[in-house]
Amino acid sequence: MSKDCHNWFGSMRAKRSTLVHLIYFSRLNLSADAATRAQQIGEITRQAQKKNEFSVITSFLVVEQNFAAQIIEGERGSVNDTFSRISNDTRHRDVQIVEWREIVKREYVNSFATGIRSSANDAVFQKVNLMPMFLRGTPKATAIQALARTLQAETLTKQGIDHLFV
Ligand SMILES: Cc1cc2nc3c(=O)[nH]c(=O)nc-3n(C[C@H](O)[C@H](O)[C@H](O)COP(=O)(O)O)c2cc1C
Repeated sequence: MSKDCHNWFGSMRAKRSTLVHLIYFSRLNLSADAATRAQQIGEITRQAQKKNEFSVITSFLVVEQNFAAQIIEGERGSVNDTFSRISNDTRHRDVQIVEWREIVKREYVNSFATGIRSSANDAVFQKVNLMPMFLRGTPKATAIQALARTLQAETLTKQGIDHLFV
């Protein structure tokens, strides 16, 4: 018997599911028309929210021009299942994993949230400056995380609930 499960608490710990995150980036195949594009992202959001809530996945999707980067957090098997569906979706292409690893705790609070570059959050995107990395095909996990965390923090501050997630 491993030393992790010599008592009830130990076995609870040993059985506890492994938390992982997966970060990928891709190129979106969305409409050039802003209204159609918003509708398409709305449709992805609706599907992803429902599935992620069911699978206890938390995630954040960053969109800059036609590039997307997403962090998916959850139990190992759920993250794998979710990513295999996502990578087969024809609404984006060139889906590439940036990082996949065990994590100690979740960083994102919503099942599916998006940060789409706009005039309102332009400064945040500009500071992290992902675009050159996207174009080279080598976006850093730390840069994607920095951007997603800041965008989430701004949203939470606006909602007045940032003190819950420090
Ligand atoms: C950029 C992007 C992000 C997505 N994120 C998620 C997600 O976080 N969770 C999810 O279940 N589906 C996500 N989807 C949708 C899946 O690709 C898929 O369409 C959906 O899970 C329904 O799968 P199904 O038709 O096999 O049931 C995403 C799609 C795109 C294009």
